Amino acid sequence: MKAITVEPSKPDSVRLEDVPEPDACNGSVLVEAIAVGLCGTDLEIVQGHYGWAPSGESRLILGHESLGRVLEPGPRGVLKTGDLVVGIVRRPDPVPCPNCAAGEWDMCQNGRYTERGIKEIHGFMSERWRIEPEYAMKIDESLGLLGVLLEPTTVVTKAWEQVMAVGNRAFWEPCTVLVTGAGPIGLLAALLGKQHGLEVHVLDRAQSGPKPDLVRSLGAGYHTGSVREVGFEPDIIIECTGDGQVVADSIRAVKAGGVVGLTGVGGGEEIDGLFGGDLATEAVLSNKVIVGCVNANKRHWYKASQALARADRSWLARLVTRREGPEHFARALEKEATDVKVVVQFSDVCD
Ligand code: BGC
Repeated sequence: MKAITVEPSKPDSVRLEDVPEPDACNGSVLVEAIAVGLCGTDLEIVQGHYGWAPSGESRLILGHESLGRVLEPGPRGVLKTGDLVVGIVRRPDPVPCPNCAAGEWDMCQNGRYTERGIKEIHGFMSERWRIEPEYAMKIDESLGLLGVLLEPTTVVTKAWEQVMAVGNRAFWEPCTVLVTGAGPIGLLAALLGKQHGLEVHVLDRAQSGPKPDLVRSLGAGYHTGSVREVGFEPDIIIECTGDGQVVADSIRAVKAGGVVGLTGVGGGEEIDGLFGGDLATEAVLSNKVIVGCVNANKRHWYKASQALARADRSWLARLVTRREGPEHFARALEKEATDVKVVVQFSDVCD
């Protein structure tokens, strides 16, 4: 079968190639791939900055934002042939650490977790893939191709859960949220902000293209420029750019007692106007919390599937701005100005 593979740490080693059918030891459920979303992590892997092949192999099948249809449900009887499923990304570490033992693998303490398409287990960018039934999330059939948005939705579901948990350490009635970055993660964070009943604002550099309208049609405010210029003090900031300046500005801009949830990673930028000690002053004297969030556990996957099922389908459909066949994966990896979420489409969604 065809798969998109990469040699981790080797820039531009990505290629479409023939690989053996998925081995039964990868799970009793056999799935036909429909689509796989691309994100910044995939780009980092392709550029050789991130990613690990399975032990004893040199190449990794890419892809962690999956959607597929069950071909063989396996012996356990939970899934049926034809069900639409999305594969959970992370597996607990083998020790396991207390968090992984308790099913909270997203909070793994020893870093020995594995992740499909990212860290030591093959991903979902192949015509067929196998998965253990307990890691296959069945999704609402009516979502169709939009089920490919489930994985990024799980990431922001966790971020929201963490932010709310931290905020509730004291008396807290949040009204406003600022989301920085209007990529797929930022837009899905904004969607969840609306579902939480908050006044939502999104900040991005884009002055044109699909982002301003996507934000406004959610009933949220759209801002360009810097966090310092948004004109209000957000109770919550969900930071989705990973840009050092935006992070520093967010810590300063969030209201006293507020929470900044970080979902993006970056590195190396010089920060203007806020130094280490100032960060402490901001956080200490105003009871501010900065919480970093990565990945998602099964509770977040369940909540995210509910959130996606509740969302307006026509709005979600506007997030998937480009679909490319696997033979055009190189084109899929190139950023175009109107891109929000680009997916590699392996087969049609119809049963
Ligand atoms: C994925 C997460 C993963 C993280 C770090 C993100 O792109 O969505 O599932 O934990 O990368 O590898």
